[in-house]
Amino acid sequence: MAILITGGCGYIGSHTCIELLKAGQEIVVLDNYDNAKPEALRRVQELAGKTFPFYECDIRDEEGLRRLFAAHTIDAVIHFAGLKAVGESVQKPLAYYDNNVSGTVTLCRVMAEAGCKRIVFSSSATVYGMSNPSPLKEDMPTGAVTNPYGRTKYIIEEILKDVCVSDPEWTAVLLRYFNPIGAHESGRIGEDPNGIPNNLMPYISQVAIGRLERLAVFGDDYDTPDGTGVRDYIHVVDLAAGHVKAVDYALSHTGVEIFNLGTGTGCSVLELVNAFQEANGVEVPYTVAPRRAGDIATCYSDPAKAEKLLGWKAVRHVVDMCRDSWRWQSQNPNGYED
Ligand code: NAD
Ligand code: UD1
Repeated sequence: MAILITGGCGYIGSHTCIELLKAGQEIVVLDNYDNAKPEALRRVQELAGKTFPFYECDIRDEEGLRRLFAAHTIDAVIHFAGLKAVGESVQKPLAYYDNNVSGTVTLCRVMAEAGCKRIVFSSSATVYGMSNPSPLKEDMPTGAVTNPYGRTKYIIEEILKDVCVSDPEWTAVLLRYFNPIGAHESGRIGEDPNGIPNNLMPYISQVAIGRLERLAVFGDDYDTPDGTGVRDYIHVVDLAAGHVKAVDYALSHTGVEIFNLGTGTGCSVLELVNAFQEANGVEVPYTVAPRRAGDIATCYSDPAKAEKLLGWKAVRHVVDMCRDSWRWQSQNPNGYED
């Protein structure tokens, strides 16, 4: 009896492993280390005070997956494994379709063979596309995505819906994450991006630590209160706790259910920069730059459905996210390489 965590070595996966272990779940972790380091799981085990089986395996490796399912009774899978860089997906679409879409198909095939038909999938608010108004609700139209990464999330959602239609024993819980930031409050695990970060919070932290000179604020002429982009930042530990509830839900329901995991509150780029400076007493120099292609003005969730059906609600605030991101960054200036 265990939960398989694919991509469990990554940013959201590592935090989720801790929350699942805290909740008393048995876990088995799989990762191919494409975007992660073994040190992350070593620290997860240290923080949780527990060990668990780990498989260095690719989700496209059908035989490797079969061996794992033969060795363990897996009740449900939380499927984080995937590539996630929007810009890279435009350059390498086939790598994204192969890894994310083909990988998920292979995983589901082996799951079905093993009689495990419960999956919790890491989707993204990006599936709502550019034209839906915030607050975004689960029943709004999806699919008008602007890049191959987003399209893989949309396609996988549709595949999992089809699988549930084809076989009433299947359960798919599709979690649409808004903008996860922050780190475990111990400062021991956090987000460790390769190269120059694309996302706002890791960029802010690396400017604050002196690895990068200044933040470029992508546009201050949006139709928002201060002109900068508004997003729904969610603490990664709240997000991880959402997975504990989602897996409980998957274990006791069948069919497809979709949930936004967000706070329901928007925060602008400048509000986040100011909150970070105030929470941590550090400077984050910035300049205003042109808008980034593909960005929208405002994106935040209506999180009511998750509260109603999962009994889950984000409880941490932007100041907690800023403090915990900085604790991780300042204690590990070069990420897990230290
Ligand atoms: P991450 O890159 O830190 O974690 C993904 C993990 O999957 C990594 O450890 C990587 O090594 C592993 N992986 C990738 N391809 C694999 C494969 N073929 N086989 C086995 N392992 C593989 O990313 P994250 O931020 O923790 O995101 C987790 C999931 O959530 C991803 O699917 C991502 O698309 C999705 N998501 C993330 C965000 C975000 O802002 N971080 C937002 C929305 C959705
Ligand atoms: C991005 C992805 C989205 C993905 C999400 C989580 C794009 C277009 N979208 O969302 O598909 O699901 O990350 O991985 O890449 N900003 C700056 N300066 C920076 C970086 C960002 O001003 O150096 C601004 C952006 O314009 C935006 C906000 O900060 O207004 C948040 O950006 P980011 O962290 O990249 O997240 P999203 O664009 O919301």
